[in-house]
Amino acid sequence: MDHFLILLIATAVIAFGFWPRCGKRCTAISPHEPFWKTLLAHHRPNLDENMIDIKPTTTLARLPITYKVLFTGFLLVIGVGLMMAGMQIMLTHGKADGKPGVSINDIVYSYYGNRSGSKLESMLNGAMKAMAPDEVRFTLIQWARDEAPIKEWPSTIEPIVKQHCVSCHNAGAAIPDFTKLANMQKVAEVDQGASISTLTRVSHIHLFGISFIFLFVGWIFGMAEYDLRWKLILISTPFAFLIVDVMSWWLTKYFPIFAWFTMIGGFGYSLASTVMIFTALMQMWLPKPMWWPKMTE
Ligand code: HEC
Repeated sequence: MDHFLILLIATAVIAFGFWPRCGKRCTAISPHEPFWKTLLAHHRPNLDENMIDIKPTTTLARLPITYKVLFTGFLLVIGVGLMMAGMQIMLTHGKADGKPGVSINDIVYSYYGNRSGSKLESMLNGAMKAMAPDEVRFTLIQWARDEAPIKEWPSTIEPIVKQHCVSCHNAGAAIPDFTKLANMQKVAEVDQGASISTLTRVSHIHLFGISFIFLFVGWIFGMAEYDLRWKLILISTPFAFLIVDVMSWWLTKYFPIFAWFTMIGGFGYSLASTVMIFTALMQMWLPKPMWWPKMTE
C-alpha cells in the first residue's frame, strides 16, 4: 500500500512537471472572445498545413503514379473483400429461415432466435408426427418446454425414445443419435438467437476492423474532386451506419423489430463505400471528361 502511494505521488509530480503551462499562448487568446469561437478559430481552413483538406495540387487525378498504383491496389482488394462479405452474409444469415436470400426473418432468426419452440416440438408436430402416439408426443413436447430436465431422462424419456425413435435415430444413422441425452437436449433447446459472448466477439471485431477500412477509403476519397457537401456525407455516413449496424444486432436480440436497422445499416455503408471506391478509381485513371457523375465543385 505504501509503495502504491509513493508511486501515485511520484506520478503526479512528474505529470505536473510536464503539464503544458499557460504561457504566451494564453495571452494570444482574447479574454473577451467566447470559448467556442476560440475553438472554431482552430478549425479555420489552412490549405498549407491541413493534410486532409484538398489542396489544388493533391487531387486524385494529379497524384504521382506511385500512389495511384498503391491506392488502386488497396481499393481493389477492399472491393473484392466487400463482395466476399456480401456472399458470406448470403451463405450464413441468408439460410437462417430456410429460404435463399437475406430477409428480415433471417436477421431475426440469427439474433433473436426462433422462439416459437424447439426443433423437437416442431418435428413432433410435423415430419415425426406419425412416429409415436399422441400422448407420447405430448410427454416429449412437455419435456422440451420444461427445458429438458436431466432427472426425467432415465425414468420417463429414455424408455419412450428407445421404444419409438431409436430404431432410426441411432449411432449408425446420419440423423441425430437419440440414445445419447446430449443429442436429445440439443433438439429440445429453444433457439435463443445469438449469445452475448458471440455478439461481444463479433461486435468488437467489426468495429475495430471495419472502421480502419472506412478510414483509408475515406482518406483516399477525400482527395477526389467532388461536391464538398456530398464528400462530407459520403465520408461520415459509413461510420454512422456501422454503429447503427452493430447496435441493431444487440437490439434485435431482444426486440426483433430492430432487424430493419441491420438491413439499413449494412445497405447504407455498402452503398457509401462503393460510391467512394468507384469515384476514386475513376478519377485516378480516367480523363476528366469521362467522370461520372459530374459532382466536381
Ligand atoms: C422411421 C424412422 C424414424 C423414426 C422412427 C423417428 N425418426 Fe426422427 N427423423 C428421421 C429422419 C429420416 C430424419 C431426418 C429427415 C428430416 O429432417 O425430416 C429425422 C429427423 C428428426 C429430427 C430433426 C433432427 C435435426 O436435427 O434435424 C427430430 C427432432 C426427430 N427426428 C425426432 C424424432 C423423435 C422424437 C422420434 C420418436 C418419437 C423420431 N424422430 C422417430 C427418421 C425417424
